[in-house]
Amino acid sequence: MNTQEIDFVQQSFALVFARKADLAERFYVHLFARIPEARAMFRGDFLKQKTMLTTMIAACVKKLDDRRTLQELGEQLVLVHAHLDLGQRETEAAKRSLIAALRDVLGADLDRQTEAAWGRAIGLVAGTMTRH
Ligand code: HEM
Repeated sequence: MNTQEIDFVQQSFALVFARKADLAERFYVHLFARIPEARAMFRGDFLKQKTMLTTMIAACVKKLDDRRTLQELGEQLVLVHAHLDLGQRETEAAKRSLIAALRDVLGADLDRQTEAAWGRAIGLVAGTMTRH
């Protein structure tokens, strides 16, 4: 990602940050609409789950210019999802759900350039979310 793309993602995430609970809420609404069976995979405290999701997104957004740390975060994602046997379909659904959630929260502030930059960012991290 170039510096401008990183700026787009970081600046838009700064706008989202105050509403990160909404972002997580919308993410799961979109994810479960795309993959209904995913709902039953979550067995723990869902409120806590939403916090873990936004904490992970925040950590990735902060480290977009640090390949090594980003790769480590990607590896963490692989590990926490390993037992779920997620594949290409789920990875794609996660990308689309996050973009859709950003659109829900940011509205017109998610312009085309910002959306494209998020697409690249998600591709970098979530591309490694699954091993297959
Ligand atoms: C943007 C993509 C995603 C991110 C950033 C993300 C992030 C996370 C994080 C941080 C955790 C918490 C791990 C822990 O307990 O420390 C988690 C758990 C989990 N994720 Fe994801 N996730 C993503 C996509 C998905 C997708 C696509 C699915 C299913 C289709 C999924 C299903 C789960 C489940 C079921 C758990 C709970 C695991 C358990 O407690 O057994 N995630 N995720």
